[in-house]
Formats: sequence, structure tokens, C-alpha cells
Amino acid sequence: MTTSWGEYALTRFPEHPRDPLRAWDAADEYLLRHLAAPDAPALTGRVAVVGDRWGALVTALAGRPGPDELVQITDSYLGREATRANLARAGHAEGGAVRLLTTRDAPPDRVDVLLVRVPKSLALLEDQLHRLAPALHAGTVVVGTGMVKEIHTSTLRLFEQLVGPTRTSLAVRKARLVHSAPDPDLERPANPWPLRYALPKDAATVAGLTVVNHAGVFCADRLDIGTRLFLRHLPDGLDGRRVLDLGCGNGVVGLAVAVAAPGAEVVLTDESYQAVASAEETFRASAPAGAKARFAVGDATADVPDGSVDVVLNNPPFHSHQAVSDAAARRMFTAARRALRPGGELRVVANRHLGHHLTLRRLFGDCEVVGSDPKFVVLRAVKR
Ligand SMILES: C[S@@+](CC[C@H](N)C(=O)[O-])C[C@H]1O[C@@H](n2cnc3c(N)ncnc32)[C@H](O)[C@@H]1O
Repeated sequence: MTTSWGEYALTRFPEHPRDPLRAWDAADEYLLRHLAAPDAPALTGRVAVVGDRWGALVTALAGRPGPDELVQITDSYLGREATRANLARAGHAEGGAVRLLTTRDAPPDRVDVLLVRVPKSLALLEDQLHRLAPALHAGTVVVGTGMVKEIHTSTLRLFEQLVGPTRTSLAVRKARLVHSAPDPDLERPANPWPLRYALPKDAATVAGLTVVNHAGVFCADRLDIGTRLFLRHLPDGLDGRRVLDLGCGNGVVGLAVAVAAPGAEVVLTDESYQAVASAEETFRASAPAGAKARFAVGDATADVPDGSVDVVLNNPPFHSHQAVSDAAARRMFTAARRALRPGGELRVVANRHLGHHLTLRRLFGDCEVVGSDPKFVVLRAVKR
């Protein structure tokens, strides 16, 4: 990525030499150009960057004089790892130029410049603006950026409601900037996050139990229809088994295991900090006393040792950071196979048209359908 003050070699995480997707886009470039213009706001004091996908913004800003402190706040483990690698490649050691915070860390108490890469999830933006609002002061410069298709009237309404008067820039290469002027007298509504809801009657063994959802988590306000089918086709006899809920979201699948088999040991992993926090709270609210559960943020199976689990349960992502691809699912299945002991099984729910049975057959040698409805299938593959 080229800026007027330097060039940056940027990668996504996990890094792949043949990755056709760039680690930055026109929205990142538009914001960086705006910040380098002669009439740009001063980048001084504490600069916080929210939603920086792969660290393009903080990596480029770390190369500019001005900020006393640069802070990145992200919900993605993958984004954070990419940021670390991109900063290191640009010659910035962690802990030096940029402080990396997650969405679950306490936000900074004062922010002088707030840069927002508008996230895909409006809920996450709402929660982040609520959490950061107390740190803003009348002189805080707030600039958002995103692709035109990501910035809706509802996005601007959130800036208006939670920061202050808001206007947008002209679109340039399908990207747009959002400028908000903090209003110290603004009366903000209460932050609705996290949301809690009771699972519906047809949610098999977990019907009526409460799930807790932090902002941005998959299907945060109602049970997903694929997950609902999955809950009806989980394996039996899991007592005493080690079960991995891979990509756990709010933890509803792992919870179903803990309820049906209180003697199972459940490990729940996700690359979203908000997801793992939700799963922990779901267990606190609804798991039977004495349920054995461990929670980990990380890529795919996180820190789970190879060959150590009996069953992996997975409702794989359909989108991976804006890109529609089955690469994310394929990586999860490969990691699941590694984590399984010989004879262990992976059970997956997915949209029929994605053709995951072909991938599973290739990886595991075989795969069978154990449940289906007109839209979804539940697949089972055993590690030989
Ligand atoms: C379709 S949701 C399923 C959530 C939950 N299991 C359910 O059924 O409601 C997929 C989940 O995978 C997570 N995810 C995506 N990529 C991941 C990765 N590389 N490693 C771990 N989790 C990932 C997402 O954050 C998301 O929570």
C-alpha cells in the first residue's frame, strides 16, 4: 500500500503467498490520504483506531510523526495477528509504536483522534461507539471510513446518536468518509449490548435456556436456522468425551453438549473476542453446575493439541472478513482433522449449496449425511 509518506507491504493472516485478496482497500487509502492533506486535522495526542481489518491503518500511521500514542481496538484474532506481522515488517516492535487492544479490553479513558473503519456489523459499531463515547471530548477528531456499500443511513444515525453532528464526504473510488463532531452534551441511549434471549421451543435439549450475545456475534438476536438443525443432530453418548465446539459464536452448540452430557469436557474456540466472551457468559447463565468447559480465542482449533479430541462440532463461517469463500471452512475442517484422535468424528452443519461434502470426502476419505432440511445438511466425517 502506497501513501504519500511511505510504502507498506501488508498481508492478511494466515498469510498465504497465493492469497488473491489484499490486506487493505480504497476506504483505508481514502482515510490515510485525508489525514495527510494540508488541511488535515492534527494527528496528536492519543489516536485510537477501531475496526482496522488487517492493520493497514495503524501500520501506516505508525510511520508518521504526531501521535503520542496509537491504539488499535479489534475484535478479530486473525486481524490482530495480521497487524502484528504488518507492524513488524514495517519495523515497529509490538509494545512500541502501537498498543493493541481487543474489544473486550477496557477502552482508553481519553481519545484525541478516533478513526473508525466501519465494521461489517452495525451492532459492533454501536457497541464500540458506546464504549468509546466517554473517552471523547469536544476537541476529539472523529473520522470514519468505509466502502459506500458498507455505510448506510443507519450507520450515520449511530454516529449522530452516539458521537454528535455527522456528515459524509464525496465518494472516491467507491469509498466514503464520515466526519462526526463530538457533542459533550449529547444524551445517549443506553447500550443494548450484550443481548440475552431464551432459546426457542424447537431448540432440542437447550429449549428455554438463555444465551448471551455480545455485539457482532453471529445471529446475536435469534437462533440461526442452520444451528437449530444442528442441535437436533448432535452425536449421542458424549459423556466422558472431549468435544470441541469450533467457531463457537455464543456457545449454543457447546452448551447443548454440556446439557446432554454433563460428564463431557467441552472446549469452545472462536477467532472473535466478543464470541468467546459470549460463550463464557452463556455457560455461566445456563450450563449445568459442574459442567467442564474451557474457552479459547484463536485461529480455528486455537491451542488444542493434535489428536486430543473425540468429537469436533462446527457450523463454519460463510463469509470470511467480507470475502465470500469456502477457504475459511476448508481451513477449519483441516484443523479439526488434526485435532481429532483416530476414530474421532467431525460433525458439520452447512448450507446445502456450499458442497462441503466434497471437501470433507477429500480430507477424511468419506462423509455421510446425518440430517437435512430443504436448506441445510448435517455431515459426519470420521478420522481414519
Ligand atoms: C456460522 S458462525 C457459528 C457460530 C455458532 N457455532 C452457531 O452455530 O451459532 C461461525 C463462527 O466461526 C468463527 N470463525 C470464523 N473464522 C474463524 C477462525 N479462523 N477460527 C476460529 N473461529 C472462526 C466466527 O467468528 C463465528 O463465530
